[in-house]
Formats: sequence, structure tokens, C-alpha cells
Amino acid sequence: MPLVEVDQLVQRFGDFVAVDRLSFTIEAGEVFALLGPNGAGKTTTIRVLVTLLRPSAGRVRIAGLDVTEHPTRVRRVLGYVPQTLSADGSLTGYENLLVVAKLLRIPRAERERAIADVLALVRLEDAADRLVRTYSGGMVRRLEIAQAILHRPLLLVLDEPTVGLDPTARRTVWDALTALRERDGTTLLVTTHYMEEADLYCDRIAIMNRGRLVALGTAAELRALVGGASTLDEVFTALTGDTLESGGSYSEVRQLRRRLQRFR
Ligand SMILES: Nc1ncnc2c1ncn2[C@@H]1O[C@H](COP(=O)(O)OP(=O)(O)OP(=O)(O)O)[C@@H](O)[C@H]1O
Ligand SMILES: [Mg+2]
Repeated sequence: MPLVEVDQLVQRFGDFVAVDRLSFTIEAGEVFALLGPNGAGKTTTIRVLVTLLRPSAGRVRIAGLDVTEHPTRVRRVLGYVPQTLSADGSLTGYENLLVVAKLLRIPRAERERAIADVLALVRLEDAADRLVRTYSGGMVRRLEIAQAILHRPLLLVLDEPTVGLDPTARRTVWDALTALRERDGTTLLVTTHYMEEADLYCDRIAIMNRGRLVALGTAAELRALVGGASTLDEVFTALTGDTLESGGSYSEVRQLRRRLQRFR
């Protein structure tokens, strides 16, 4: 059974369709990327998965649990690092983690150990007692990851975890995620605008545009799909820019998808 099952998901805001019959699955242990231009529907999709939005139609199951029927149980098996800031700058890193541990009702006897473990995993042991407002962008992101994994979720969902970070800081964020996968085998769902990150770190990539899934596969499969494009950037442009913006898009995408089948 896949860990995540998204089946014909639709999300409407009034008359506007932000997510349009989206379907994909994520296997346990996978690193799965959602890629797409601004407004594609990535965050909306994620908000449904993490039970912050009720789907207009379709089904989403996580670890076999329907997100609409069992939101509380779903929240226990996942961790979420939102696109917006989720750490408090006026507290230290340790204090932020303590607040989260209390909210998660991690028993008092286990709290210190759990906090020390995640601080080591994201390499913030030495900065734990500093105010978060003195942290660099990469350190803040790593703290937010630490907050999201205190309860050892099966699935960690990260919305643009490396946006706005310099290449070195982005690398430290991925190092923390790699360490997490080595420790717990955690499944990751990540959105990103950085093609090279999807290419380097992600097992499979789903490309969304205007609420729809336009391609899904490994980086190599996606490159093959667009006539042997050499970079994922070219794939992205072909699928979400040139192809879809230039009208007549449906048949072109259908052709591209047929090609994807051939390359499998
Ligand atoms: N609560 C809401 N009410 C109305 N429209 C919304 C709401 N949330 C999102 N939208 C719209 O839905 C579309 C998809 O937004 P979403 O935030 O999911 O995109 P995204 O792919 O995450 O983009 P970005 O890369 O900019 O983060 C956008 O057009 C957005 O304006
Ligand atoms: Mg977003």
C-alpha cells in the first residue's frame, strides 16, 4: 500500500479551481517532489494532505487513513514545515522545541531526550541556546524541520524548504533531511522551485501547472519525455511554459505523456 494516495483531488475556492482532478501516489521511503510555477496549486495540495483544508472532491489517504475522516490520526503520522515562518524569533531554538514538544504532548520524561536528538540531527546543538532571530536562514529552516519531526512522523511534508537560501545553506537543509532519512527512513514530500534539487535529491517528480498534473516520473524519465532535454529546467519550461501557455496544450501534453510511457 502506498503511504500517500491522492485520487482525483479537486480544490475549489469559490468558482476558482486551484487543484483539478489531481492523482498520484507516494511509496513509503520515497523522496517525492512537487514542482510547478507560482500558483500551480502545490501549497493548496499540501494543505489538503496535512488536513488544513477539506477537499472539495476526491480522496486523499495517508498511511491508509482518509484525511477527511481521520484528521487527528493523520496529523499524528505526519510532520509539516510550512512555506511561511513557523519558528519564534524571540525564543531560543531549544525553547521553540520545548513549546512544540508540549503541544505534541510528548511525555515529560521523554522530552529532553527527543529535543537533544533532533537538535543533533539538524546540527543545531551549539546554537540551541541562542535566540532564533540571530540564526541564519538555513539554521531557521533546520530548526523548523526539527520541530516537525519531534514526534518521529512517517511522512514529512515541506513546502519550499530551501526558498531564499544561498547554495551552502540549501545544502545544510538537505544534509539534515538526508540524516533524517538515514535515522528513520522518513518519506519526504517536498515542493521546490529549484530544478537541480529535485534532480539531485528526489526519487520522483510531479510537475503541476494550473492545478493539473502535467508530468510525473524520475528526473531521467522527465528529461526523456521532452525529447531528451538535458536539464530539468528545460523540461519544466517545455511543460509549464512553452507548451501550456501557447494554447492547444491538451493534445501536446497528451502526446508528451504517450512519449513518457514509451520511455518506461
Ligand atoms: N484560500 C484561498 N482562496 C482563494 N484562492 C486561493 C486560496 N489559496 C490559494 N488560492 C489560489 O489558488 C492558486 C494556487 O495557489 P497555491 O498557493 O496552491 O500555489 P503554489 O503552487 O503553492 O504557488 P507558489 O509557488 O507561489 O507557492 C493560486 O491562484 C492562488 O491564488
Ligand atoms: Mg506555494
